[in-house]
Amino acid sequence: MIISNTQNIYFSPTHTSKQVAEAIVRGVGTNKVATTDLTVGAIPETILPASTLAVIAVPVYGGHVAPSAMERLRNLRGTNTPAALVVVYGNRAYEKALIELDWLMMEQGFKVIAAATFIGEHSYSNSNYPIASGRPDEDDLQAAFRFGEQIAQKIAAAGNPDTLYSIDVSRIPRPAQPFIQLLRFLGKVIALRKRAVPLPRTPWVEDENLCTHCGLCVKCCPVGAVALGDELHIDAQRCIKCCACVKSCPKKAKVYDTPFAALLSQCFRKQKKPQTIV
Ligand SMILES: Cc1cc2nc3c(=O)[nH]c(=O)nc-3n(C[C@H](O)[C@H](O)[C@H](O)COP(=O)(O)O)c2cc1C
Ligand code: SF4
Ligand code: SF4
Repeated sequence: MIISNTQNIYFSPTHTSKQVAEAIVRGVGTNKVATTDLTVGAIPETILPASTLAVIAVPVYGGHVAPSAMERLRNLRGTNTPAALVVVYGNRAYEKALIELDWLMMEQGFKVIAAATFIGEHSYSNSNYPIASGRPDEDDLQAAFRFGEQIAQKIAAAGNPDTLYSIDVSRIPRPAQPFIQLLRFLGKVIALRKRAVPLPRTPWVEDENLCTHCGLCVKCCPVGAVALGDELHIDAQRCIKCCACVKSCPKKAKVYDTPFAALLSQCFRKQKKPQTIV
């Protein structure tokens, strides 16, 4: 069976899911590649044919697929279109995310032929509290490339679309999570809640003089929570705390210092590895 097109689909405010998706697509190696970037906004209803491979990569928020990604993926329909699903998480856990993505894409008409879990630098990571800092690294991207190659081999080995079999995402190995670490994390979260430590609703600007009003944070905000000409203000009703504005600001004017960063940094130091199933 021959597939000549790959549709690279991602939602990726801080670009880690995007990097993983691009490495997978390079590994698949089809001549034609088109990109659907769901980060920048909703897409019109789009139907993908069975002759296209969809590579779909999204970040994990609170153990689920980032809600904005989930919402925007609903406009994407398949016609028994083969899909490779990828969730990217910040080295804590991905919990229900992969299963949710699998259910949604199957419901939307895709045949899930491969899946993977990758690690990306946590959106809350900073120099004081690094969390999976620098991930995906060279090894991750090589693993993503190899995963792409395996998908291409699977497609080539299938004589026709009927023999291109789907996979059961629940069989993907979960990374080992030392129980003590998990307990320590839960204990710290409970202590934080008991002390009623306020959690910031949005990033903020500590030194207004740093901002040059370049507008980059307006462009990169996936939900329109920052307005041109009013870059120091963030609409808390819209903000999804993705930290794109923090990480993209060339002047480091925006910060998001949540007490969770210290907890995650301390409790999830051991780096997890990507897992794939083809
Ligand atoms: C609101 C929010 C919730 C998150 N929840 C989790 C989580 O439950 N588990 C985890 O390991 N990482 C979590 N992360 C980290 C992201 O999954 C991780 O940084 C991912 O690489 C971001 O993808 P992107 O670079 O494509 O935006 C969360 C990040 C944000 C912003
Ligand atoms: S990206 Fe930074 S410098 Fe540019 S407008 Fe936003 S806060 Fe200001
Ligand atoms: S304002 Fe909120 S939603 Fe917009 S980029 Fe910043 S953190 Fe993300």
